[in-house]
Amino acid sequence: MALGLLLVACDDGEVEEDPCPTVPALSWENFGKGHLDKHCNGCHSSQILPFQRNEAPVGVDFDTWPLTLQFAERIHVRGMATDFPMPPGGGPSAEELATFDEWMRCEVLPEAQ
Ligand code: HEC
Repeated sequence: MALGLLLVACDDGEVEEDPCPTVPALSWENFGKGHLDKHCNGCHSSQILPFQRNEAPVGVDFDTWPLTLQFAERIHVRGMATDFPMPPGGGPSAEELATFDEWMRCEVLPEAQ
């Protein structure tokens, strides 16, 4: 499907879009940890007590790189969801979401495989 779209785009003479355009590349250090700390880890951190989690499931934590790799697919799905979003009330701006999506697709999901 993605390939089909790409070929159509090329037939139109358009420049192929880089799926990972940010330079330097988005990483755990320069974006991911900050994003997860800001929007997720108030509830999803191994460093907080059970009563501080606002009912986030115990053990579903994203405050380290290994944990982020472990939960990568669910972090991406729920972090981008519009029907059952995370954080539960929404929060990240459109720009933050686009950057989060690129970081997940370009660093986290490939590393998690
Ligand atoms: C205010 C607290 C809170 C914040 C902030 C929060 N969550 Fe959650 N999270 C919950 C609760 C409560 C549940 C259990 C209910 C549910 O799954 O909707 C949950 C469950 C989850 C689950 C496990 C269920 C599944 O669908 O796999 C994932 C993954 C998740 N959250 C990801 C995130 C991500 C990513 C962020 C940040 C972008 C985030 N959460 C921010 C409260 C929070």
